[in-house]
Amino acid sequence: MPSEYHQYRRRFSSIDLCNKAMYKWKAIAAHVPQDLSGWEVLDVGCNAGFYSIELARRGAHVTAVDIDPHYLDQARWAAQQFGVQDALTFKQMPIYALAHAPETYDLVWFMGVFYHLRYPTLALDILRRKTRKLMMFQTLTMPGEYVSSPPENLPINARDQMQDSGWPKMAFIEHRLADDPTNWWAPNHACVEALLRASGFRVRARPDHECYLCKPHGVAHEHHEEELRAAVNLWPD
Ligand SMILES: C[S@@+](CC[C@H](N)C(=O)[O-])C[C@H]1O[C@@H](n2cnc3c(N)ncnc32)[C@H](O)[C@@H]1O
Repeated sequence: MPSEYHQYRRRFSSIDLCNKAMYKWKAIAAHVPQDLSGWEVLDVGCNAGFYSIELARRGAHVTAVDIDPHYLDQARWAAQQFGVQDALTFKQMPIYALAHAPETYDLVWFMGVFYHLRYPTLALDILRRKTRKLMMFQTLTMPGEYVSSPPENLPINARDQMQDSGWPKMAFIEHRLADDPTNWWAPNHACVEALLRASGFRVRARPDHECYLCKPHGVAHEHHEEELRAAVNLWPD
């Protein structure tokens, strides 16, 4: 019997999500190479497969992962309808389990998942290590585009600066947002940029509202490597 949490997810029809994805795809498609032949793509939280299928239609091989087997079944069915099933590999797993797999990808597609995660920075650190060329990132955000420049070292008595609207912030959602108990975090735009930088990405383009096309740029905070290993090995598969 699926939990209340999973039942909620399923009530939220994949058709709705695919309609939204189609709308977004129109805005961002031009920012993705037309010919993805030879590219290995990872679609994290693929849901019913809308983006996986579009990327496969451009020639990529797509590894499409989702935590929910119900969505993966829908994605498998949809891939067959579009005749791209051979270009797709489906895997049921939570995002964090990717840390245990050796594969890396030319393009990581990380749309609409970040704010559903309990451990969003862990996920970003893992995905940085999976990304060879590009990552397309999208998250629900808090309103506001302002970005302030925090000092290199904020004095302890100057913490009121954190209340600036442009200070990187992430709102925690203890209960529900839009009736959805699976939403945990909403960063502001300044926080998205700062988190991406801190995980070793640079934003190259903003193809649409809340969408960030990123390139890998070093691996920031290498001294956190040990901490990251400990986090992902805590509960081995
Ligand atoms: C809002 S949908 C986004 C679907 C699609 N990526 C898009 O942008 O339209 C979130 C998807 O992420 C999946 N998901 C949520 N938490 C996950 C996790 N921890 N690991 C893998 N997938 C997860 C959900 O099952 C769902 O299919």
